[in-house]
Amino acid sequence: MRLEAGVQGDGRMRTGEKRQIYLIGFMGSGKSTVSRILSGRLKVPCVEMDEELERQAGKRITEIFREDGEACFRAMESRLLESLGESPPCVVSCGGGAVLREENVRAMKSGGVVVLLSASAATIYERVKNSRTRPVLNGHMNTEYIEALMREREPFYRAASDLTVETDEKTVEEIAGEIIAGVESYRDTQKAGKE
Ligand code: S3P
Repeated sequence: MRLEAGVQGDGRMRTGEKRQIYLIGFMGSGKSTVSRILSGRLKVPCVEMDEELERQAGKRITEIFREDGEACFRAMESRLLESLGESPPCVVSCGGGAVLREENVRAMKSGGVVVLLSASAATIYERVKNSRTRPVLNGHMNTEYIEALMREREPFYRAASDLTVETDEKTVEEIAGEIIAGVESYRDTQKAGKE
């Protein structure tokens, strides 16, 4: 029997089938906050990739970038995603650049449902403008740069996602609710297609 997790009507994960929920999206799209709410509502653990990588490395993301380089960070990210596909059901808050590697997208797609959180560049800017922990935006903290990088990454986010939830002007509770409903109907559709 395949291990896979689904979402029951009461919001709890169905065990017996192993399926993770991966939240992807640009920095500041709300992945970490929403994943914690989802984790509570679905009663499964949440893995915040950046936090987990910091724990593994024993240093902050900014230090990993500065001391070991971005390539090293991306390799750590890939290893973590690979292992998460095998772990018990959880909600995974992915780093904003995790979709850039094909192998990462493969790991996510085979591990579960991939949900894209989208937001406008203006919203993203408002959410990240005081952040000092995002090396990719170092020295580029402005809407124009964010907009250009979002445009460049857009095809990767679209290709990786099974469903998209718009986050502009929504509460985290609303976003979490939309994700739960979306994942449930996505899984039902997938299941019906197999029958
Ligand atoms: C990155 C996003 C960050 C973190 C790293 C690189 C990116 O995660 O993984 O700074 O390339 O978009 P968040 O999306 O959680 O900020």
